[in-house]
Amino acid sequence: MAKLRRSTWCGEVKQELVGSTVCVAGWVDRRRDHGGVIFINLRDRTGNVQLVFDPHFEASVISTAQDLRLEYVVIAKGTLVNRDDSAINDKMPTGRFEIKINELELCAKSEPLPFQLEEAEKVGEELRLKYRYLDLRRPAMHRLIKLRHELLFAMRDYMNGQSFYEIETPNLSKSTPEGARDFLVPSRMNKGTFYALPQSPQIYKQLLMVAGMERYFQIARCFRDEDLRSNRQPEFTQLDIEMSFINEEDIYAVCEGLMKRLWKQFLNIELPLPFSRFSYDEMFRRFGSDKPDMRFDLEINNVTSVFATVPADFLKEIIIAGGSVGALCVKNKAFSRSELDHWVDRVTKEFKAKGLIYIRFNEDKTATGPLAKFLPATFFDDMQKVITDLTVKDTLFVIAGEYDDAWDILGKLRVEFGKALQLIDRNCYKMFWVTEFPMFEWNKEEQRWDAKHHPFTSPNEGWRDVPTKEIKARAYDLVCNGEELGGGSIRIHDAQTQSAVFDLLGLSKEDAKNKFGFLLEAQQFGYPPEGGIAFGVDRLVMILGGTESIRDVIAFPKTQKGSCLMMETPSEVDGKQLRELGIKVL
Ligand code: AMO
Repeated sequence: MAKLRRSTWCGEVKQELVGSTVCVAGWVDRRRDHGGVIFINLRDRTGNVQLVFDPHFEASVISTAQDLRLEYVVIAKGTLVNRDDSAINDKMPTGRFEIKINELELCAKSEPLPFQLEEAEKVGEELRLKYRYLDLRRPAMHRLIKLRHELLFAMRDYMNGQSFYEIETPNLSKSTPEGARDFLVPSRMNKGTFYALPQSPQIYKQLLMVAGMERYFQIARCFRDEDLRSNRQPEFTQLDIEMSFINEEDIYAVCEGLMKRLWKQFLNIELPLPFSRFSYDEMFRRFGSDKPDMRFDLEINNVTSVFATVPADFLKEIIIAGGSVGALCVKNKAFSRSELDHWVDRVTKEFKAKGLIYIRFNEDKTATGPLAKFLPATFFDDMQKVITDLTVKDTLFVIAGEYDDAWDILGKLRVEFGKALQLIDRNCYKMFWVTEFPMFEWNKEEQRWDAKHHPFTSPNEGWRDVPTKEIKARAYDLVCNGEELGGGSIRIHDAQTQSAVFDLLGLSKEDAKNKFGFLLEAQQFGYPPEGGIAFGVDRLVMILGGTESIRDVIAFPKTQKGSCLMMETPSEVDGKQLRELGIKVL
């Protein structure tokens, strides 16, 4: 048990305390020995402060100080003084002060760390994840964890101020309709049966509206067994919201108020309200994405008409079959041959495109590139009618194919160009709503319609009069800087529409009853009109904290392969446990 008690945080020593006795606690961050005088930088979660051990001080203190090594844990007491002018360190927030120590308690020694904290950015992420608790010691990680804490606190405060109840819902649950695979948990008491971890609290929150809770929120853990990316984890956190007797405008108002508060509080930025709204069709047409990064232009041009007469067989085939040709026009950039090869390679390998055509121009407007021999002499002028600001210094990147596929690839290429060519203004935030999503999307593999959002999303009025492909949903996403921050919808409210939607999704009455029977039943007992939304909390922290990896904002994240290198999970379990659960591993 430590005898000394901390009186102040290392990072918070200040002028008013100079001359008085202070007691600090933490980890040895740095150690220097200058002719017998020992200097220690002591680190706690608020920052560093310099401790000084003078050889004239008490011998026992000096001898303990001499033994101190990096990451030893100590509590130290002494007098806070101003440093001599020549010793002031402007780079350190407490660099004007030091503490002359006269009592020192060593709480714990430390083995040399597997990596130096200062060099963490240079070592492989695997090593950092294996020793996550050490990686988390770094000030950069502390900053993000603190930001996350403050964000959760601010969200709760805002939601409470808007008369929402925070209500927890179970994690041992039943399959929910978000479209990913479930994580299953076997039941010991009911052998052969399984809980599913919720992909979101979607069904519970709708039931809470039936229960008359009116305005619900939850900071909820969600679990999805899906392919992971830099912005996806198998276990992540949502700010989940549901409201009764509302329409889209009410949802937008609550969410815009929340974002305004968060951006002001954490970035000191006044977001102008209301946010712009764009239809899904427009976003896809211009950017090949439903979550475009609008911090830069580089829009997709539909150049099908220009290529309609080009006598290259593959193009003719695509266009006759109803396909489209899209082009990105990269301004004023003389790509080298190897750069062009690199982009072709990436697009075919990473984005699974059949090919990428690049076209450059000579001063006399003649085209160069693999397709040049097929292009008419008027090609540049024809193209300029579509891409009005085209010059001979620009390079075109062209993809031909089915509209959805071609635009999707161009959209991904656009994002990569944005990063590689430094087109993105990193100091701005482009936040807007995307609305009028298609209600259904065609699943080519399974040859059926899937719900684009989830099957409780309400279709737009008049939906019975248009082909399935054209039905739009009362769904909305909030997008910021190329990330989907949140998404939600107004829910289907009458049994007839719900059963028609299940029919379109190919869900038999029996399947629907098995999967969602309890919700359908509950809806017969006075179901208010309602809707909601959920925000990805991890993604919000990423954006507000300025980091590109979701693993930076979660204390104990999983790798891209869904494992925890520190605890070595998932792992095998012993036979006894499996027998109790009635499970045999094949
Ligand atoms: P949705 O599936 O769009 O909607 O999810 C809402 C938000 O959650 C975040 N998100 C993720 N974050 C990290 N890792 C993941 N694997 C992951 N998946 C999703 C995104 C996304 O915008 N029940 C509906 C909401 C509703 O209709 O009210 C839902 O979950 O930021």
